[in-house]
Amino acid sequence: MVNVPEELIAIFRSARRVAVLTGSGISAESGVPTFRDAQTGLWARYRPEDLATPQAFRRDPRLVWEWYKWRRELVTKAKPNRGHEALVELEKYLAQRGCLFALITQNVDGLHQRAGSQQVIELHGNILRTKCFDEGTLVDKWEESDEKIPRCPQCGGLLRPDVVWFGENLPAIALEAAWQATQSCDIFLCIGTSTIVEPAASLPFMALQYGASVIEINLHTTPLSTSVRYVFRGPAGVILPYLVDCIL
Ligand code: OAD
Repeated sequence: MVNVPEELIAIFRSARRVAVLTGSGISAESGVPTFRDAQTGLWARYRPEDLATPQAFRRDPRLVWEWYKWRRELVTKAKPNRGHEALVELEKYLAQRGCLFALITQNVDGLHQRAGSQQVIELHGNILRTKCFDEGTLVDKWEESDEKIPRCPQCGGLLRPDVVWFGENLPAIALEAAWQATQSCDIFLCIGTSTIVEPAASLPFMALQYGASVIEINLHTTPLSTSVRYVFRGPAGVILPYLVDCIL
């Protein structure tokens, strides 16, 4: 079914540094809808771009809080799938060979960590963490009630999810780590992302510029597809375990 060229297996086996970028496509098979497919049921009439912004939160904090509550519940119920697990296997195999590995994710669901991945760079934060809207302080304990949005125990400001919203900067340390991994890797795997949201979308192109072998795994064609040599069309939960089996 999937044809993995011998030369690609050889590149993996001799690699010194491997970087991976994942997007919401890898979590789709865990039942977490991709960002652009996410709007179902009650939320079907809203666009994520209109909810995931500081302006939206200022305008209608309850609406945004409820949307994230729904997404958080989805994520909490979800389990890592075979795609996540294959990346754990790959990381272990590469670590045994002394190869550096970095898993850069745009996902906020924490499923890579729950699967057992060690070196995860979260570019867009994590939906299971909460912080103060005014001061950005992370808050561990807060009380959810149907009537009120939880407030910061220190300053009384409204609480929000610790995710990057449209128009906000990415966490500087994570972005720097992602650039480093991208610029120094021999292989860059781009999995389940539409490669349209910057700055993450530029990473595979940066890897190409720096001479890495870039591989795309995606159900559909993306802006990256025509630039890379190795494209696997299909679900990450099928392709990744197969690819990793071939390498191991
Ligand atoms: P998108 O929803 O833009 O794209 C999901 C990609 O996954 C698409 O290219 C699909 O073809 C692909 N896909 C879907 N199911 C798949 C599967 N089972 N196997 C492989 N590929 C599959 O999601 P992202 O690219 O993650 O940012 O979006 C990037 C960022 O845009 C998100 O992190 C979010 C959003 O705006 C912020 O919230 C800042």
